[in-house]
Amino acid sequence: QEHEDEWPLAEILSVKEVSSRKLFYVHYIDFNKRLDEWVTGDRLDMKKLQFPKKEAKTPTKNGLPGSRPSSPEREVVSIGKTLPTPVQLKSFFFFFHKHMIISPGRKRKANCGGTDEDSQDSSDGIPTAPRMTGSLVSDRSHDDIVTRMKNIECIELGRHRLKPWYFSPYPQELTALPILYLCEFCLKYLKSLKCLQRHLTKCNLRHPPGNEIYRKGTISFFEIDGRKNKTYSQNLCLLAKCFLDHKTLYYDTDPFLFYVMTEYDSKGFHIVGYFSKEKESTEDYNVACILTLPPYQRRGYGKLLIEFSYELSKVEGKTGTPEKPLSDLGLLSYRSYWSQTILEILMDLKPDNGERPQITINEISEITSVKKEDVISTLQYLNLINYYKGQYILTLSEDIVEGHERAMQKRHLRIDPKCLHFTPKDWSKRGKW
Ligand SMILES: *[C@@H]1O[C@H](CO)[C@@H](O)[C@H](O)[C@H]1NC(C)=O
Ligand SMILES: [Zn+2]
Repeated sequence: QEHEDEWPLAEILSVKEVSSRKLFYVHYIDFNKRLDEWVTGDRLDMKKLQFPKKEAKTPTKNGLPGSRPSSPEREVVSIGKTLPTPVQLKSFFFFFHKHMIISPGRKRKANCGGTDEDSQDSSDGIPTAPRMTGSLVSDRSHDDIVTRMKNIECIELGRHRLKPWYFSPYPQELTALPILYLCEFCLKYLKSLKCLQRHLTKCNLRHPPGNEIYRKGTISFFEIDGRKNKTYSQNLCLLAKCFLDHKTLYYDTDPFLFYVMTEYDSKGFHIVGYFSKEKESTEDYNVACILTLPPYQRRGYGKLLIEFSYELSKVEGKTGTPEKPLSDLGLLSYRSYWSQTILEILMDLKPDNGERPQITINEISEITSVKKEDVISTLQYLNLINYYKGQYILTLSEDIVEGHERAMQKRHLRIDPKCLHFTPKDWSKRGKW
């Protein structure tokens, strides 16, 4: 790994030759996959090479869902002691598999082919989806290797260039391009700047579809129904998958709502991030996937998305929790949000008749819509719970109080509940989404 003294273990997933130079695609064991990269041979210590152990691979010829397909023709060597856990995006992949291989008889247009105009722009209610060539999915045994490697070099989205972190099932013929162009409003993907420019003369969208349910200053939120705006929702998932590694939930966008956060300027409403949410959740999930696009990260937008998700839960009169597992960055954001939200409440408590203020876990949960389990884990994480003279008390040390006040001064982006115009629907009564 560059800028490191140590030589971490890495698994070689693929080898290619570029102008007669061998390049190796490596995954650093115990590091996040977003650090995976193509490296030259001089960055490998070949003396420590280990080959994959035969028994580590369980051949399941037909690759049933849930089982990991074998990789018989893997030309890879492992220099790690353990094989990394199997990728978890199988069912995500199946969703795209199921929905993308459609309209087989349709002729591709010569110029901007692959992103066939009428297929992506369907406004006639026919659920069309971005097409995917069979080649990516025809060879199942190859899937797990394919889906473990970044396949898109660069995405141009409005005025941003994004470097994907993970695999995303865009059509395979587009993965060889140096840059994939996206319409920043409808998220349609195009293979060249020329195709994008032609698209922009026809695309009059300047904001995500769906209803704008929140606006304060330049920040807006749009609610998109995954059934009504299927193409947009699928294009959003494709883009999001470039930066999300672990979720397996997109069998279909129909059961989901998508909340897209935008920032407004004279050109339009530019996407900053989003979260998806099941229309009906039996497990109190109020967020399925959540993402702040890289150019907007580390600026408080992630916490704003999280805050918004809990404001929706408050209107619904429910407590909620994000779907697990959370990514490493997701967990950091949630921990920080939960800590600040709970500390805000604790520090606002007034003494009760000169007695110590009192509050129950349930009350904290009801006020914040944060699920009880998450309240408890946060109190434990902050190490606030003490047992004193026969009862549990929360002790706020000066360090905690000062740290909290400093953090809150930096948190200038906040959701204003007065600006939220949202009526929850009871999806269970509709029979059908
Ligand atoms: C989104 O769905 C609505 C309702 O079906 C439809 O009127 C609108 O044209 C769709 N927008 C896009 C961009 O697909
Ligand atoms: Zn467009």
